[in-house]
Amino acid sequence: MDHHLLQVVALLTLIAFGGTSWSIEACSPIDLEALMSFKNGIQKDTSGRLAKWIGASCCKWEGIVCENATFRVIQINLPGLISTDTDLSQTQMIGRISPSITLLSSLEIIDLGGLVGLSGAIPDTIGLHLPKLQKLYLYGNNLTGPIPESIGKFPNLQELALQENKLWGSIPMSLGSLQGLKRLLLYSNKLSGIIPDSLGNLINLTELDAHDNALVGNIPNSVGEMKALTKLDLSNNFLSGKMPSSLTNLTAISVLYLNTNSLEGTIAFPSRSGEMSSLGFLRLHNNLLGGNIPSNIGYLVSLQRLSLSNNKLEGALPSSLGNLVSLTELYLSGNFLSDQIPKSLGQLSRLIMLNISRNLIEGPLPQEISSLQNLQTLDLSFNHLQLSAIPKWMANMSSLSNVYLAGCGIQGQIPDFFQTTNSPIQELDLSVNILSGSIPSWIGSLSQLYLLNLSGNSLYSDIPDSFRNLQDLGVLDLHSNRLTGSIAPVFEIEQGIFGGSLKFVDLSENSFSSGIEEIGGGQLSIQFLNLSHNHLEGRLHIPEVLANLTSLKILKLQENLFTGKIPNGFLKLLKLKELNVSNNHLEGEIPEGKPLVDFPESSYSGNKGLCGKPLGPCKL
Ligand SMILES: *[C@@H]1O[C@H](CO)[C@@H](O)[C@H](O)[C@H]1NC(C)=O
Ligand SMILES: *[C@@H]1O[C@H](CO)[C@@H](O)[C@H](O)[C@H]1NC(C)=O
Ligand SMILES: *[C@@H]1O[C@H](CO)[C@@H](O)[C@H](O)[C@H]1NC(C)=O
Ligand SMILES: *[C@@H]1O[C@H](CO)[C@@H](O)[C@H](O)[C@H]1NC(C)=O
Ligand SMILES: *[C@@H]1O[C@H](CO)[C@@H](O)[C@H](O)[C@H]1NC(C)=O
Ligand SMILES: *[C@@H]1O[C@H](CO)[C@@H](O)[C@H](O)[C@H]1NC(C)=O
Ligand SMILES: *[C@@H]1O[C@H](CO)[C@@H](O)[C@H](O)[C@H]1NC(C)=O
Ligand SMILES: *[C@@H]1O[C@H](CO)[C@@H](O)[C@H](O)[C@H]1NC(C)=O
Ligand SMILES: *[C@@H]1O[C@H](CO)[C@@H](O)[C@H](O)[C@H]1NC(C)=O
Ligand SMILES: *[C@@H]1O[C@H](CO)[C@@H](O)[C@H](O)[C@H]1NC(C)=O
Repeated sequence: MDHHLLQVVALLTLIAFGGTSWSIEACSPIDLEALMSFKNGIQKDTSGRLAKWIGASCCKWEGIVCENATFRVIQINLPGLISTDTDLSQTQMIGRISPSITLLSSLEIIDLGGLVGLSGAIPDTIGLHLPKLQKLYLYGNNLTGPIPESIGKFPNLQELALQENKLWGSIPMSLGSLQGLKRLLLYSNKLSGIIPDSLGNLINLTELDAHDNALVGNIPNSVGEMKALTKLDLSNNFLSGKMPSSLTNLTAISVLYLNTNSLEGTIAFPSRSGEMSSLGFLRLHNNLLGGNIPSNIGYLVSLQRLSLSNNKLEGALPSSLGNLVSLTELYLSGNFLSDQIPKSLGQLSRLIMLNISRNLIEGPLPQEISSLQNLQTLDLSFNHLQLSAIPKWMANMSSLSNVYLAGCGIQGQIPDFFQTTNSPIQELDLSVNILSGSIPSWIGSLSQLYLLNLSGNSLYSDIPDSFRNLQDLGVLDLHSNRLTGSIAPVFEIEQGIFGGSLKFVDLSENSFSSGIEEIGGGQLSIQFLNLSHNHLEGRLHIPEVLANLTSLKILKLQENLFTGKIPNGFLKLLKLKELNVSNNHLEGEIPEGKPLVDFPESSYSGNKGLCGKPLGPCKL
């Protein structure tokens, strides 16, 4: 029977039953057959929707919409994420998409997105038989194989969402024929090959997202012809060559992400005011872009976030950066930018994040920076700043809470004025400077302190008792100083009602000598503990209390003065991935069992008296 005959049969059936509800609910027999084949291709449907597809009333089936006049199925709506007024649930279908879906020739919408377990290939001829299809959603599944060439044959497709599958092969050239296409989502697949030139024909495309694939070659110059584009995301591929200059023709663009490729040459920026004036989000980080940051960047007056980190940019920061008054985040780290920071940066009154770390920027810092009253995070680490001292005006920046000034040539004592900043300090990194003197006791009063990194200085003192008050401390790095005394204050931090927050402690390469017995008392949240290269001695042995730290993933105790046996309790440290107790004065049998037996010999070496697996057997 051909389609028309089937429709006639359906119509006759309708007449015969005098328009009872049964007949109105019936879809055309050919659609019914196609839907049953689709159902048969699915082995498991955790939503239970398909189990209720029985009988012939397919127009009433959940997920099916028919056209009233013809009884043809026009929509399959079976997304994995089901939302009702009160509930949101993630369901799953396991199986394949039956090629018979192409018999549903009146379909306008196929939504099989987010079902997680649809596997196999997209039916090869899908584009040939669905002349009315407008939306094809197959995202969020387990589909493999190439995108069929036939997809370019849909005459009316507006949205193609194939993201988050395991599709491979190249982007079919035929996609360029989908002239009515508005959204093309291909991200998070395994697509390779080049971006076809033909995509430039998609003059109504507003969104092209192919990030997280393995695309190679140049970005074709034809992208500049997709004048309706508001979002272009090609990040995380292997694209190379230059940024096409035609990008500046994208007058509507607001999001442009080309980061994490191998783009080289200079950055294509507008040559005059007005071009790309909608661009709000520009990410070009992790490429090989060189040359200067052109002063034309000042034309991008809508920019809110700009990331150019980890490229090969050189020269001075253009003072036109100060025109970007909408900027909230500016990332420039990991380049070869030099000269001083322009005073105009002080005009970026909305700036929240400024990261210029790892460049060749020279001092002094312009005091104008202090007018950035919304700035929360400032990272100027590892430049050629040679600051000598932390500028006093920093204490006047009322939002500043994360301060990264590592490797800035800061000398002398840790200045007092940080104690009185208007905003509570949460992260303070003054590592690899020339700080001397003691760790000031007022640090213990920074009630919101989460990260403290004073490593690689010449600090010479005990850990102040006030550290016991640092309830929010999560990361503490004091390694490579000349600190002495007890490590106990760190492990006696009062715990909030939700338990301890301390996760990472590195006190290695100091001269601490005591306090290790206090460790097990609390701070059960610690995952990384490095006490290596100190003068620690357990009174007789490595304290059994260490075995209380059951969250530990890495424990480094090498190069200390520990004596006695490795406590049996260490067999309770089931999350431990790395242990080093080498070069102490330990003896006796290594407790036998996981995880201790899995570590290499070098974890235990340099202790005259240790024996048992993985070292040699103990003598009886
Ligand atoms: C079919 O008719 C019903 C009732 O008149 C209406 O609510 C529904 O929207 C129509 N469906 C389509 C696809 O036109
Ligand atoms: C996805 O498909 C692979 C085979 O290609 C299978 O091993 C895996 O279990 C599938 N995953 C899901 C979530 O269905
Ligand atoms: C592009 O969009 C415009 C305006 O929405 C519309 O008139 C035109 O038909 C579309 N072009 C194609 C090829 O669909
Ligand atoms: C921008 O578009 C115009 C006209 O559409 C075209 O003449 C010009 O070559 C394009 N510019 C670039 C850099 O491609
Ligand atoms: C600054 O950027 C670098 C490189 O991208 C990054 O490693 C560092 O964590 C950033 N600093 C802050 C404070 O986020
Ligand atoms: C900090 O701000 C106060 C009040 O606005 C001002 O008097 C003082 O001079 C400022 N200090 C620095 C170092 O800029
Ligand atoms: C502390 O700073 C040093 C040097 O800058 C760095 O290597 C280390 O990773 C930092 N520690 C933490 C925990 O971030
Ligand atoms: C101490 O151990 C931690 C955790 O493995 C590690 O991140 C850190 O780099 C080590 N410190 C030194 C100075 O090697
Ligand atoms: C720590 O271990 C000791 C025994 O070694 C035990 O008495 C004590 O209750 C443990 N403390 C916590 C907080 O679990
Ligand atoms: C343990 O530390 C010693 C240095 O004391 C080092 O030689 C050895 O490689 C380390 N072993 C492991 C497994 O980390």
